Formats: sequence, C-alpha cells, structure tokens
Amino acid sequence: MMASDDAPLLIAEGLTKWYGRQPGCRDVSFSLHAGEVIAVVGESGSGKSTLLQLLSAQIEASSGRVLYRMRDGATRDLASLGEAERRLLARTDWGYVHQDATLGLRMAVSAGANVGERLMAVGERHYGRIRGAALGWLDRVEIDRGRVDDSPRTYSGGMRQRLQIARNLVTAPRLIFMDEPTGGLDVSVQARLLDLLRGLVADLELSVVVVTHDLAVARMLSHRMIVMKGGQVVETGLTDQVLDDPCEAYTQLLVASILPP
Ligand SMILES: Nc1ncnc2c1ncn2[C@@H]1O[C@H](COP(=O)(O)OP(=O)(O)OP(=O)(O)O)[C@@H](O)[C@H]1O
Ligand SMILES: [Mg+2]
Repeated sequence: MMASDDAPLLIAEGLTKWYGRQPGCRDVSFSLHAGEVIAVVGESGSGKSTLLQLLSAQIEASSGRVLYRMRDGATRDLASLGEAERRLLARTDWGYVHQDATLGLRMAVSAGANVGERLMAVGERHYGRIRGAALGWLDRVEIDRGRVDDSPRTYSGGMRQRLQIARNLVTAPRLIFMDEPTGGLDVSVQARLLDLLRGLVADLELSVVVVTHDLAVARMLSHRMIVMKGGQVVETGLTDQVLDDPCEAYTQLLVASILPP
C-alpha cells in the first residue's frame, strides 16, 4: 500500500461558521480515513447540517479549513480550489444524499436519466453504456428495471431515496455525505434502506459522513461518532463505546432519548 493511502481522506481543522451573531458550528476538528464511516449526531440546531455543508464546500467557513486528499494523492485545502475544480469534485469523487430526495434528483426526467446524467457529466457519451450502467444501478438499489423510464415523481419515498443513492454512486465516488438519509420514511422502509446502505458502503469501501438524529442509524452504519451540541463537539469516540458507555451528560441524555429529536 502506498504511504499516501494511510493519510486521512479528509481533515477538518477548527471549522467555525457564524450566521451573523448566531453560531452554526464552532471549532470542529476531526479526520476521516478511507473506508471509514463517521456519524454526526445531536439535537435539532446543534450544527450538524452546517458542519456537513462546510465539509462538502457548499458554504464557506468563517474560520478553520477542510483538507481533502484528491484522487491524485495531493492533499488540498478546499478553499484553494477553483469553482470548476470544486464542482468536478462534487460530481465525481463525492456524493451528497439529501433527506429530501427531490433535492438530490431531477424530478422532470426519468429515473434512468437521473443515473445516466451523472455519467454524462464526467464525459461518458456512449448511449448503450450509459443505459447499461443505469439499469445495473437500478438492480443494485433494488428498483425494478421496468421502472427505468418512469419519472421519480411516480416513485414512493423509499424508491426515490434508493434512486438518489444510485445517482450518487454511479461515478464511483470515494466520499459520501448524507444528511438524515432515512428521515421522513416509514420505519419498515428505513430498515430496508439502512440495510442497503450498509451493504453498499462495505462493498464499495466508501468513506461516509452521515448526519442523523437517529442513534439507530449511527449504530448501524458508523464506526465513529461525533456528538454535537450548540455548534460544538461534546463527545467523540467509537460508536459502540459512545452509545454503550457515554461519557458526557449530554450524550447520556441523548442515548436515553430524553432529548427531543
Ligand atoms: N442559513 C442560516 N442562517 C442563519 N442561521 C442558520 C442558518 N442555517 C443554520 N442556522 C442556525 O445555525 C444553527 C445550527 O443549525 P443546523 O441547521 O446546522 O443544525 P442541525 O443540527 O442540522 O439541525 P436539524 O437537526 O434541525 O437539521 C442553528 O441555530 C440554526 O438556527
Ligand atoms: Mg440539519
């Protein structure tokens, strides 16, 4: 294995975001290695989505920085990337799974086009290969091939979420950001989706930062956890240790589900 493979894929250093005088997130530092899944948990307003948007370069930090090891092995400060480079990264090496699938899909085009379009965006032009890849990904996320030409508008919530995942994964990204990927779905649909996600993350050796209210999601998907409160990290550690033996009073309350979601 090359030495650069041991370097973290992503490093957050002192990440801070102020919305005017309102703190979004404050002084968050951690690193993520290849193949590692980190869950970010905490009550509503604790800064989870702000952190995810900072990590994925969708918003600019007030201070601190995010370093990312690019496919060529060079580690770059995301703030130093040009807009074109950042967009290329976002549609090739990264995926972003929204809670609301309509934000991550194009609802006006077919399911197949939703998956194929991402491939075309990275230069694939061959119709047969694009179609083949789209069908293959529908299989993989357990959507009936017969629905390939249907609009995602005709899909159920769980199917839309699986389609969004297929659209994200078709370009073989290394890092996936997920913001409440199972939020708003029925419990049985959530369980199936989680199972699917866990299998894909393991098979594809993906690195993931998953934001969730749901500690069951953190338990099932993540190796490590970051617990946030008021924009700050209050506890981090291995998921099983944090959930089974939380150190901080806040985490203890969270685990005991005394806090509102
Ligand atoms: N665009 C914005 N403008 C002003 N304040 C914001 C903005 N986005 C978030 N905030 C504030 O920043 C803090 C963190 O919000 P954030 O959305 O990151 O929390 P969250 O943990 O994702 O919450 P939820 O679980 O409800 O999604 C909150 O106080 C929120 O009101
Ligand atoms: Mg949020």
